[in-house]
Formats: sequence, C-alpha cells, structure tokens
Amino acid sequence: MNPDLDALKPYPFEKLAALKAGVTPPEGLAHVPLTIGEPQHAPYPAALATLVDHQAEFARYPATAGLPELRAAIADWATRRFGLEGLDPDRQVLPVNGTREAIFAFVQAALDRTRPARVAVPNPFYQIYEGATLLAGGEPLYLDCSAGNGFRPDFDAVPAETWREVQIVFLCSPGNPTGAVTPLAEFEKLIALADEHDFLIASDECYSELYLDEAAPPPGLLEACAALGRHDYRRCLVFHSLSKRSNLPGLRSGFVAGDAELIAPFKRYRTYHGCAMALPVQRASITAWSDEAHVRANRDAYREKFAAATEILAPVMDFPVPEASFYLWPAVPGGDDEAFTRALYAEEHVSVLPGSYMGRVGAGGVNPGAGRLRLALVAEVEATVEAARRIRRFIERSQ
Ligand SMILES: Cc1ncc(COP(=O)(O)O)c(C=O)c1O
Repeated sequence: MNPDLDALKPYPFEKLAALKAGVTPPEGLAHVPLTIGEPQHAPYPAALATLVDHQAEFARYPATAGLPELRAAIADWATRRFGLEGLDPDRQVLPVNGTREAIFAFVQAALDRTRPARVAVPNPFYQIYEGATLLAGGEPLYLDCSAGNGFRPDFDAVPAETWREVQIVFLCSPGNPTGAVTPLAEFEKLIALADEHDFLIASDECYSELYLDEAAPPPGLLEACAALGRHDYRRCLVFHSLSKRSNLPGLRSGFVAGDAELIAPFKRYRTYHGCAMALPVQRASITAWSDEAHVRANRDAYREKFAAATEILAPVMDFPVPEASFYLWPAVPGGDDEAFTRALYAEEHVSVLPGSYMGRVGAGGVNPGAGRLRLALVAEVEATVEAARRIRRFIERSQ
C-alpha cells in the first residue's frame, strides 16, 4: 500500500473514543453529544420530495459536469449571495459530492510534486486539509489561529521564502472549530499575496449560511474578487455545501466555483475519479439552492440555541461569541482539555471534543487548540440547553 497512508494522523473522533474508553457515565442521564458537526435540524423537506420525485433517474449515469440546470441554479445563488457580476455556469462552477470530498480531491489534482509543495492551513483546522496534503505528497504549513490574532491566520507572519514554497492556502470562513469569520479586507490581502507568490486560494465556506446577525452575512472569497474587479476569480476557488445550509449532510451535495483555469483540469481529474453526483441528488440540490426561506428558518433555530447556550455558559467559561458557524470554542477552566472532556463525560454524560485534537504544534511551538473545547451546537434547542446546564453544573462543582 501507499506508504503515505502511514502519515495520516488519527482522526479526532478516534482519539476521543480512546480518551473515553473505560469510563462509565451515569446511567440516569441521557447522552448528549456535542462532538460531531452533523446538523440535527430537519432536512429541507422540499429537497427530499424532489429526490423522491426523480428517483427513476437513478437508472441513468450522471455526468461529472452535472446538469446545466444545477450549475445555473448554483451560479444564480452565488451571484445573489455574494454580489457577483456573474459566474459562468459552464466554466466557473462544478457540482461536487460535499465539500469534504471536493477539498480532498482538489489537493490531489492541484499540487505539483516536482517542486516544493507546501499547503497552508489554519491551525486548528478541519482535518481533511492536512490528510489531503499528506496524501498528495505535500507538507502542511500550520498557521496558528489563537485568541491573540482573533482566531484567524496571521499572513504577515509568513516569511517570503516560505511563501515561495506554498502552492495552496486553505481558508475556512466561518471557521471550524473557532467560528471566526474572515473580513473582506483580509481576503483581498490574501489575493494580493497569491499574485505575488503564485499560489492558489481554496476557501472552505461550507458554514457561510449559518450566521447569527441576519444583517451581516459573512463575506466570501469570490465577493472579495468581485470587489477588486477580478471577475475571472484568478487563483481562487470556493467550496460550498448543502450539508449545513439545508441540513442535508447525507445528501452529499456541494459545489466548487471560481477560476475557470482551475475548474477545467479539476473536472478532468474528476471524470477519471468517477465521482459524478447522482441525478436525483442533482434535482434535489436545484430545489435547495433555489430557496432561502428554509435557510432563514434554520438560522432562526441556531440563533435561539446560541442565545440560550451562551447565557448559561458565559458566567463559567470564556469564549468568543461567534458571528457564524454552529460551534462554540471556549477556554477550559483549568486548562486541560483532555482531562475536562473525560471527567465531563464521566460525571454528566456530555461529549465534547478537546480542542487539541483539532490542532497541531505550529510555528509558535504550541498547539493553539490546547486548553479549548469544540462544542457543536447541532442538537435541537432542548438537548443543547440541557447539555449547557450540565457543563455549567460540572464546572461549578469542580471549582
Ligand atoms: C470546515 C468543514 N469543511 C467541510 C466539511 C465537510 O462538509 P460536507 O462534505 O458535508 O460539505 C465540514 C464538515 O463538518 C467542515 O466542518
């Protein structure tokens, strides 16, 4: 087998299972998991109905490029959402089976192994950026995101000689696990650096529709391009998904959009890879990208939950109230994220993810995830409130 497989690190949930092994939580308390980022709100019913209506199309092979109607629906949505001059559905949009699959595949397709191949990732980070890089023969460059820099990478801290080796920069905005949002000016700055040092920007925006202030949707990379008059989106790609926006993580539907010079070879790669989206899934996706009412209702549900959970937890934990995403990223009272996670599970039957599992020791010599927890507020409001109460009770008891 490919020896690079040995470079893959244990997935955070494997480490969590090992941490909790042998612990018996109280029988009388139902388990509340705040671990996996899988939305528990109801999937958008109209999309499911469309899927069923078109089930006969499972009898046909789909094309890698997807249906023209799907690409058009995606281009319309992205143009509206990010105030673009336009997006060519044939050259600048490609449907994918969720952002995870696309992010993983894109690194394989994009990295040039004949020269130094570093891939900059925010640290802590969504683990696929690193795994994709290692399997493509590249080397991750961890850009620490800590409280001191607003949980966003400090691009000014990267020396010019390091930039020369960087081929791809991953952004994650709104961020998993920190919830931090990249401001438009920062996207613009990174675009200038990409031109100067000849790298690609891959912006993972799969949480872009889960924001708390209805009047302040998070900006995106294509929006920054448009603001700069860069309508060819040169060197830039965004990754979007229906998983969080429409509560359809099992549908496996998303898209990449941006620079046609990147989309064309990526499409060629995907034709060989054999990962075209099933036709009924494409039809359901058209329904989902064409409606905003269900997304607003989804945001309302998250807003209610965030308000309730933050009110309960703020007196006992220190955390930035995120502008977007469904995560809380609190500092652990006492500082030991693993010990806290294990004891909380043992005493209150609540599962959380130690922040250190999402980060690596970066340039600063520390793991910026250490001493924090990732709380995914994905459950319905009652279960989330119950979990927050138990966490608070646990902290008050331990103090
Ligand atoms: C930052 C980030 N990117 C991508 C994904 C993958 O989502 P999907 O493949 O369902 O679009 C996730 C899932 O949790 C995520 O947190």
